Amino acid sequence: MSAASVRIAPSLLSVDFARLTEQIATIEAGGADWLHVDVMDGCFVPNLTFGAKVIETCARVTKLPLDVHLMVVEPEKYFDSFAAAGARVLTIHAEAAPHLHRQVARIRELGCLAGVALNPATSLESVREIAADLDLLLIMSVNPGFGGQAFIPASVDRIRRARALLDAAGSRAVLEVDGGISRDTITACWRAGADTFVAGNAVFGAADPAAEVRTLRARCAESA
Ligand code: DX5
Ligand code: ZN
Repeated sequence: MSAASVRIAPSLLSVDFARLTEQIATIEAGGADWLHVDVMDGCFVPNLTFGAKVIETCARVTKLPLDVHLMVVEPEKYFDSFAAAGARVLTIHAEAAPHLHRQVARIRELGCLAGVALNPATSLESVREIAADLDLLLIMSVNPGFGGQAFIPASVDRIRRARALLDAAGSRAVLEVDGGISRDTITACWRAGADTFVAGNAVFGAADPAAEVRTLRARCAESA
């Protein structure tokens, strides 16, 4: 895989909301590829974040594709309004979506890319039958709910096995990793086969978020 295919997706969760427009412009100038938007419902995960209004606001202030990660029960309730608000990717959790095939098909009908996320303890086998229909597979490298958590080291081997699973299925899905991604953890994930990297704290907690986006990308290029 070439380093040119690396995607860096800073997470809105760690943005300074008092400087939303400015901080998004900063990471855009730094070459970020997507803006990751974490939607949490206080039920699937023990935290609450944002909904369609914030997605619509982001769509107005940036041209970056909005990579919306739904950490919610009954995610299908939000597909129409989030697609209308400007989401480019809608990723649902396998643990919260018993009818993955139907839900993935519905996301695509709405014109979005369809992703499925797996928590650290969820078997990769839960997506094998649907792998060829996915636009994105998200491997969680922390337990979802909060930014700034430590990367779970076993995630590297999961990424390797997820890459093999996608290849075996002939799937062209993006392989994204989310949680604890930093200049210290990104290289191992890239080498294991991930191509898309969510980073919240590492980017928006840095003194220079634009430079940090470039550094994260460079860590992949160096190891290609
Ligand atoms: C965690 C979220 C992540 C979070 C990552 O539940 O899904 O997207 O923003 O934050 P960091 O990069 O700080 O671990
Ligand atoms: Zn996320």
